[in-house]
Amino acid sequence: MFIQHLLRPHIAKLEPYSSARDEYSGEEGIFLDANENPIGSVTAAMYNRYPDPYQKKIKEKLAVIKGVKPENIFLGNGSDEAIDLLIRAFCEPYRESILIMPPTYGMYEVSANINAVAVQKVPLDTNFHIDLEAVKKAITPQTKIIFICSPNNPSGNLLSQEAITEILETFKGITLIDEAYIDFSPQASWLPMLEKYPRMVLIQTFSKAWGLAALRLGMAFAHSEIIAVLNKIKPPYNISKTTQDLVWDSLQYERFKNEMVERILEQRKFLEKKLTAFDFVEKIYPSDANFLLVKMRNAQNIFEYLLSQKIIVRNRVKVAAGCLRISVGTKEENQQLLQTLQEYVNINSKKIRLW
Ligand SMILES: Cc1ncc(COP(=O)(O)O)c(C=O)c1O
Repeated sequence: MFIQHLLRPHIAKLEPYSSARDEYSGEEGIFLDANENPIGSVTAAMYNRYPDPYQKKIKEKLAVIKGVKPENIFLGNGSDEAIDLLIRAFCEPYRESILIMPPTYGMYEVSANINAVAVQKVPLDTNFHIDLEAVKKAITPQTKIIFICSPNNPSGNLLSQEAITEILETFKGITLIDEAYIDFSPQASWLPMLEKYPRMVLIQTFSKAWGLAALRLGMAFAHSEIIAVLNKIKPPYNISKTTQDLVWDSLQYERFKNEMVERILEQRKFLEKKLTAFDFVEKIYPSDANFLLVKMRNAQNIFEYLLSQKIIVRNRVKVAAGCLRISVGTKEENQQLLQTLQEYVNINSKKIRLW
């Protein structure tokens, strides 16, 4: 195994739990092996049998869509599950670390903290690009996984392909590229590079462009040896039958996903243009995702005013000074947001006149 030396030693040696459905994976027969309810379910639909632990049907379909082999795919309860499992597989608590580039998706740090794994932080530069020299300098023999979020959350921009390539070529540990927002970006996925970079792991999700956040299904793509490790340490039946069935069905509607992406991108353009016209907006960061990071005067006040009007945006002032992150809504939602911001301006200009 080429990743043996990178794995935590006890994970490399681990004998995994063998579930009933591991030992017999056929679909026909009298199933008396998993202590299920033989009569049925309390609901009209039948949920009395455990689901496929390896989600083979979805993986076969997904492999065709993504141009990889089923053995290069791991499916998790949201991509957060894959993030957690990768840290657990590769990073020894109290001794080893992950490297992240803030401001970025918060779960990398939280997952590392849960697992008592150290977090090395190399901030993105002022335009939210990778500070490659600083990353290279920060890498130590204890650095096991570098997390790259591209397009990045919360800034929304794709990170430089050259910088990512340099990390892939030189870093001896696992390079994880989180592509949760890749469908909204003009750049293609790193998937075709899977063979060239066997220590690269790509993360994607059904929660964004596919519009299936409630089903909780995340994907990790990697060398089959890395996928085998994730399968070995995951909970046996991590993806429910409902999710497996609904996602399998959804995969035939990829064109609807693409149409929704088009509509969201149109609205992003509209929102960006209208927001720029507000005096309090200082900067809208270029976005390759389905949200905008907007730097504004009085961000905290505006956030609170929007909240009082039941418009909920993400307050990012603590991670990106003066910034709110605004997901692109429907046309009507965006218009409501803009109207509410105009009301905020009107109320405040009246206040100033009264003074
Ligand atoms: C960059 C990034 N990665 C991963 C996730 C988690 O996605 P999932 O719903 O698949 O757990 C999110 C969620 O917002 C995200 O922004």
